[in-house]
Amino acid sequence: MPEEPKVQVGIVMGSDSDLPIMNKCAEALELFGITYELVVSSAHRHPEKTARYARNAEEAGMKVIVAGAGGAAHLPGVLASMTLLPVIGVPIAIEPMQGVDSLYSIVQMPQGIPVATVTINGAFNAGLLAAQIIAVEDNEVREKLNNYRQELAAKVEEKDSRLREKTGRSGRLDEGEVK
Ligand code: RP5
Repeated sequence: MPEEPKVQVGIVMGSDSDLPIMNKCAEALELFGITYELVVSSAHRHPEKTARYARNAEEAGMKVIVAGAGGAAHLPGVLASMTLLPVIGVPIAIEPMQGVDSLYSIVQMPQGIPVATVTINGAFNAGLLAAQIIAVEDNEVREKLNNYRQELAAKVEEKDSRLREKTGRSGRLDEGEVK
């Protein structure tokens, strides 16, 4: 039996209620052929599991951990404290503070244990950042990232052409008219 490819990115979330957001990280990683696993663990509700995961991640072959949590979001910081792998935190918007609580909890890590933080619900960007970290030593991923950036630029050009077609640069458009 062929060996299963090693997981390169661990996508950890505090609860399964975070999955709709954290799935976007998986979507981004798939664009670049990066292997991942989705895991529920909680710094509060299951600290032992969270510690075990962080301590084993590097030996398991992971390169980056992406951790999403809502509320008083300690998960990314706790994971980061127990591994030298880079940890990217995704603040998740939940009631009643809509992610501002989580953003502050993740981004305000005291000196010594850094967590790279993306926007509230920014799991897709977390996946892109994880891909960029992996690309430092992986030319195939680097090439795919380059193509992805070129596609983004091509989309801007398309929008600009459509805008010019409609307005000749001088007219006004209603918001959202350029699709
Ligand atoms: C956090 O509490 C989780 O990351 C989740 O965003 C939030 C709510 O969890 P559930 O009550 O939906 O399990 O730890």
